[in-house]
Amino acid sequence: MEPDNKWPEGLPKMPESLWRGTTELPSFSRLAEDHATDIAIVGGGITGITAAYLLVQEGWKVTLLEGSELLSGTTGFTTAKITAQHGLIYSDLVKRFGEDNAIAYFRSNSESLEWIVQTAEKLGVSCGLEREDAYVYGNPDDKKTLKRLEAEFEAYRKLGLPGEWVDDVSLPMRIGGAIKLPGQARFHPLEYLKGLLQAFLDKGGIVYEHTTVSRDVENERGLTLFTERGRHRIKCRHAVSASHFPFYDGGEIYFARLHADRAYCLAFEPETGYEGGMYLSASEPRRSLRAVEWQGKRLVIAAGESHKAGQSGCTIKHYENLEVFAGELLGIRRIPYRWSTQDLVTVDQVPYIGKISADKEIYVATGFAKWGMTSGTLAARMIADQIQRKPGPYTELYDPSRFKANPGIKNFIAQNANVAKELITGKVAFPHKSIDDLGLDEGAIVRHDGKQVGAYKDSEGQVHLVDRTCTHMGCECEWNESERSWDCPCHGSRYTFDGEVIEGPATRPLVKPDL
Ligand SMILES: Cc1cc2nc3c(=O)[nH]c(=O)nc-3n(C[C@H](O)[C@H](O)[C@H](O)COP(=O)(O)OP(=O)(O)OC[C@H]3O[C@@H](n4cnc5c(N)ncnc54)[C@H](O)[C@@H]3O)c2cc1C
Ligand code: FES
Repeated sequence: MEPDNKWPEGLPKMPESLWRGTTELPSFSRLAEDHATDIAIVGGGITGITAAYLLVQEGWKVTLLEGSELLSGTTGFTTAKITAQHGLIYSDLVKRFGEDNAIAYFRSNSESLEWIVQTAEKLGVSCGLEREDAYVYGNPDDKKTLKRLEAEFEAYRKLGLPGEWVDDVSLPMRIGGAIKLPGQARFHPLEYLKGLLQAFLDKGGIVYEHTTVSRDVENERGLTLFTERGRHRIKCRHAVSASHFPFYDGGEIYFARLHADRAYCLAFEPETGYEGGMYLSASEPRRSLRAVEWQGKRLVIAAGESHKAGQSGCTIKHYENLEVFAGELLGIRRIPYRWSTQDLVTVDQVPYIGKISADKEIYVATGFAKWGMTSGTLAARMIADQIQRKPGPYTELYDPSRFKANPGIKNFIAQNANVAKELITGKVAFPHKSIDDLGLDEGAIVRHDGKQVGAYKDSEGQVHLVDRTCTHMGCECEWNESERSWDCPCHGSRYTFDGEVIEGPATRPLVKPDL
């Protein structure tokens, strides 16, 4: 759909997140030899950097291993609201986990919010941290969602959460009601994490980038991890999987208990003012809004358009839909940034945090369902305590093995039926194009040498071919034209246009057929 409120510049041609576009991060070399440490942390997003910061303060030798560049995963592309209001969740939590656990969920996320605020203050990090009220609202004509919103507010009341029902918000739109949760926050996540990283380095912490850790682990006389490239050994006492998708599975079938959900963001300068507040619509289409200061101006980040990774077809339409929404709501002067990213969701919506299995000193943190600012921080704090044998109140709620006790079976079956469908439909796709049909900067599935392959013709006319078969478990990747990537519809692995891994579970590149 063409937005009807077009301004001259339109959407930025290439995706770039405001956070990554406005932060200079230090760079680190690749691990090129065997290495020994107390604690190996795999993954340099909010979870890994926070865990590294915490553990080095306690006197441990800590090594942070990042497969790509620090903060190039989901954390670099988030919307960075820091809140315990995770959409409509408390009424469901009461039903599935009971009132005590629902309260524990709220408390654990609220404590992490406060921990972030205090840590930014303690380290003197200037990261645009502002207190904001969070709102989840329903559209006035969407009776079904309004009923769910009322049930959610009832859960707030029952649990004693500090929410308030409001009939109006400061945005120029009609709502059917909203739950306001006061005293939440927003920040610039990369400036904040750069501060934690510096404190980690000051205490002797070690970082390697471009060092992907392989899924094979040895568990004799301590742990040994291996690098994917070079097979260098990392001997350690404890390992933390902060790699978004767990780098190590340990027979826990995480690929069947997680799915990747993608969403889109625009940072735009509005024509009218934006008073503040962080908003999330519970009605479809889901929309999220927050302010951010940029070059002396107030921009608004509008996000939404969620779908399962690799299962959308045309992806640029999602940006265009957000553009229409933002234009109709506040007017648009310009859009300096657009970006998209994905997060992992567990079958029961509650993250997996804790020790992977009794016999190995490996801890996992994943499944934050687009709420990893608080949940990733919580995971880092919990795991730092668990490694140091300090008992905590939330171990059971977030236990990564709880699936065995409480399968969330309906979602598990639906999710894996969806994977099976994608596996089959990808294999029987029939390409209608050949390489010659491709325009500049266009990608598609094409017929080549009697086979179907993935092809991208870049702006200079050079053609890049890939075998679309995902190196994780063999599903066929789809072309994502707005990011110029090959995305797997099964568990969310993504590859560059020429087949290098952007994010896992896959760790090996796509095979490149001959041109
Ligand atoms: C559109 C969108 C908006 C969001 N908005 C919010 C929000 O407003 N508030 C909120 O709380 N949350 C939000 N989230 C969620 C939040 O951004 C994520 O949950 C969080 O950033 C995840 O952090 P992480 O550290 O676990 O993973 P990541 O940031 O992805 O970091 C993992 C790192 O591990 C590395 N890695 C992976 N595999 C390996 C390997 N084998 N070896 C070495 N390194 C490896 C990756 O390269 C990556 O850098 C949002 C998510 C999305 C998708
Ligand atoms: S991510 Fe699992 S098959 Fe592609």
